[in-house]
Amino acid sequence: MNEELKNHKAQLLELQKAQHEACRCELKATATQPVFGHGNPKAEIVFIGEAPGKDEDLQGIPFIGRAGQFLNTMLESIKLTRDDVYVTNTVKYRPPENRDPDDYEKIACREWLLAELNFIQPKLIIFLGRHAMSNFFPEAKIGEVHGKLLIKEIPNFPTKYFFALYHPAAAMYNGALRETLLEDFQKIPLALEKIKD
Ligand code: URA
Repeated sequence: MNEELKNHKAQLLELQKAQHEACRCELKATATQPVFGHGNPKAEIVFIGEAPGKDEDLQGIPFIGRAGQFLNTMLESIKLTRDDVYVTNTVKYRPPENRDPDDYEKIACREWLLAELNFIQPKLIIFLGRHAMSNFFPEAKIGEVHGKLLIKEIPNFPTKYFFALYHPAAAMYNGALRETLLEDFQKIPLALEKIKD
């Protein structure tokens, strides 16, 4: 890793630690540890998931369990690895029993997510599931917008380009959703190209 990238990673780690200190999310009380975003701090693509699960909570790394392995396979299918992208979550602490994060938890972790995104300055933000999407597109329905390039100007935000996918954990064992997710994933390189035009 070159010196510049190392420095950038170190700065991002400091940001994560400060956000963890300041974060008021009540899930802090029950989680083993915070799960910081992970990957390339200069990535063009950032994936945002829902919240850490059991494996992530224990290891402190997002998408490290079965859904993460599925994500890795999909990345490989478009010739990317986890080192090319950055992966993070809407909520940074595991909800007990893997229940859905509630609105308070999402709001409590929102500033942290925004700080991370502003640090990385991605060109494209990809939502993994409806919880990640509703944070930015509260009215949108994932069944209608998945696999499409979404454009929205947000003040003081690094990009206006978004792309929504079904969550890998929801799609993994559901034949039809799985097919749709695999198809949508193949559209990512073209979406990125369009943005760069
Ligand atoms: N599901 C998520 O949404 N995030 C993770 O980190 C793991 C599984």
